[in-house]
Amino acid sequence: MTDTDTYIRQLKESNPLREPTLREAIRALHLPPGSRGLDAGCGIGLPALLLAEAVGPAGHVTGLDISAEFLLHAKEIVNKSGLSEQISFQEGDVSKLPFDDDTFDWVWSSDCVGYPTGELLPLLKELARVVKPGGSVAILAWSSQQMLPGYPLLEARLNATCSALIPCVKGKKPESNFVRALGWFRQAGFEEPTAQTFAGDVYAPLSEDIRTALITFFKMLWGEPQPEVSQEDWAEYQRLCQPESPDFILNLPDYYAFFTYSMFWGRVPG
Ligand SMILES: C[S@@+](CC[C@H](N)C(=O)[O-])C[C@H]1O[C@@H](n2cnc3c(N)ncnc32)[C@H](O)[C@@H]1O
Repeated sequence: MTDTDTYIRQLKESNPLREPTLREAIRALHLPPGSRGLDAGCGIGLPALLLAEAVGPAGHVTGLDISAEFLLHAKEIVNKSGLSEQISFQEGDVSKLPFDDDTFDWVWSSDCVGYPTGELLPLLKELARVVKPGGSVAILAWSSQQMLPGYPLLEARLNATCSALIPCVKGKKPESNFVRALGWFRQAGFEEPTAQTFAGDVYAPLSEDIRTALITFFKMLWGEPQPEVSQEDWAEYQRLCQPESPDFILNLPDYYAFFTYSMFWGRVPG
């Protein structure tokens, strides 16, 4: 399997866990019915489906992604959903959007713009450029999780050396961290910069979909052995997080986990 295939599989498998939380975040934006928006870094189009539902049959969502392969999958998924009239896709780079000024009523970007961290101010300005005055720009990213109930110290240590987190924060300035996004919204001239965190809960008995999603997350977060992880912690990780282990944590009859998505948004000045 190529890296892209793995990535696509992970996006599909993790969707049942993320979807209710992303839906809640979309509700908080109060996107106007019939409005037209951009999903920047749309991946395989799963959030685009939720955005299209939110704006209704008179609205439209353009999904943009840098990967042609992701877009192929996105088109397939959207065609099957019956929402293909309302969603179109375009290949492109979020840092140089192939759209005129003031094209959209809003922009949404989940787990793409600002994640991993980078030069965010120019990106936000570019997103604002394609939105009409008064429209909104929202960026979201996974911001925390507790998925190993009863093992807070182990989980904290695994997070401190987390294969998914380290590349985003190592050597980066604190002000470039995603949860400092309010500062970039202010600097980019947005009105009413706002932050809100949405939590997702899952608990036993787990459906097959949620079980698969959690296994995928365990692998994405901690599955690559890191030199900083002690042998004891690695053995504990395997004992608790490998489905074939007799102590697999998802088999606990009282298993409970939660995770958060943080969303930052603001209005383009009129
Ligand atoms: C973690 S995925 C998230 C996909 C989708 N937003 C979601 O929430 O399911 C990140 C996506 O951003 C896309 N991406 C990364 N850099 C990009 C860029 N500079 N311009 C456009 N898309 C980009 C990747 O190809 C990938 O599809």
